[in-house]
Amino acid sequence: MAESSTGPTTYMKVSAWRDIYACQPELPKSAKGTLAAPSGVRPMPTTLTARDHNRQRRVVSHAFSDRALKEQEYLLHKYSDMLVSRLRGLARKGTTIVDIYNWYNFTTFDILGDLCFDESFHCLENAANHDWIIEVYDSINKAKVMTVFQHFPPLDSIIRSCLPSIIRQKVRKIFDFTRQKIDERIKRNPDRPDFMHYILENNHKGGMTRDEIDATVTVLVLAGSGQTVTHKEIRDATHNDPTNVTVEAVSSLPFLHAVLQESMRLRPVVPVGNPREVNRPGLSICGVPVPQGCRVSIPPKTAYHHPSKFVDAESFIPERWLPDAPPRFSADEKEIFEPFMVGPRSCLGRTPAWMEMKLILAKIFCAFDVRLAEELNVGNWTDVKIHFVAETKPLFVALDSKT
Ligand code: HEM
Repeated sequence: MAESSTGPTTYMKVSAWRDIYACQPELPKSAKGTLAAPSGVRPMPTTLTARDHNRQRRVVSHAFSDRALKEQEYLLHKYSDMLVSRLRGLARKGTTIVDIYNWYNFTTFDILGDLCFDESFHCLENAANHDWIIEVYDSINKAKVMTVFQHFPPLDSIIRSCLPSIIRQKVRKIFDFTRQKIDERIKRNPDRPDFMHYILENNHKGGMTRDEIDATVTVLVLAGSGQTVTHKEIRDATHNDPTNVTVEAVSSLPFLHAVLQESMRLRPVVPVGNPREVNRPGLSICGVPVPQGCRVSIPPKTAYHHPSKFVDAESFIPERWLPDAPPRFSADEKEIFEPFMVGPRSCLGRTPAWMEMKLILAKIFCAFDVRLAEELNVGNWTDVKIHFVAETKPLFVALDSKT
């Protein structure tokens, strides 16, 4: 347990996951560290009270039902095939070096654009991020400064009132874009099972307001993207043919699963703690009483990199996650690893995230021989600045087409 004058009290024991994030009644999210949309409404993941959050999650969760995921699977194939085809084009004349981090992002943004707005962002076609995505990341950078001042209330209101209009306009532009795209999507009323279809179909009386939908969809596009060996098991399961890569074929490959787990351990998608407010007396976390008014969290990146939790914690060793892991990893405290969080606010996109990561990786390794372009990668890939999410950093790899 660690305390600071402005930050939350942090915990690194496994039982803290349950005590902080899955206790009943739920501990509210802290307003510090997150901002509302210009409409004044918070997107679902940063909604403060359990009541408001449950009301919204009941609507949004329909977009993640088994039926919905099955119906949306073709989009994962469409864009992962497009990724392979774009990279094959680049590798036609021999080895090509690409920033694979960028290409994975292009793919996931196109998928999310299609799922949320019935229209891809065309990142894969253009080999570039859409302007809206660039604006969003730029605003996240600026917003982090605002959240620092939230810890000093008198300064916060002064800074807010002096906020340059250019930043205000920037943020408004981002949310205006979402509103416009959703308006267009509603007007077109396409007959397809995308996220909006499920959200609108299940938004009955007492569900979500239009401002809540707009704010939540903006975050959903971000939550679902930007995350993301040739190995014998992929070859055996698919015979090195990307068209044999199906969700079923890749879902039960233990080494592929282990590679992704180890990647998320070293570079967690949500690296910093999610603070919760202790809103009542008598609460204990890991058996220790916590005063009312305290903010509490688990800092995932710190926990996942801690030598007391993982043997050789800074090294990439997927084997530690295998059912028959070498004995030296028996000391790993794997239960501390919760990349999708636990409790009523845990990740709704866990299943599609696994499907997407496995499909994309398997198709890439079927189509290409891949090696790290060590000479171009600067410093340690896990060493990144963290705003709300981890900063983007190129990951250069050399690709050779197998066909
Ligand atoms: C490797 C991929 C992913 C990881 C590690 C991840 C992790 C997380 C985490 C830790 C949270 C909780 C954040 C918080 O409480 O502030 C979260 C929330 C959420 N995630 Fe993911 N996520 C991933 C991919 C996705 C995808 C692909 C989607 C959708 C297509 C998605 C949709 C959501 C939604 C809707 C929430 C909000 C849940 C709520 O507030 O009830 N995520 N995710």
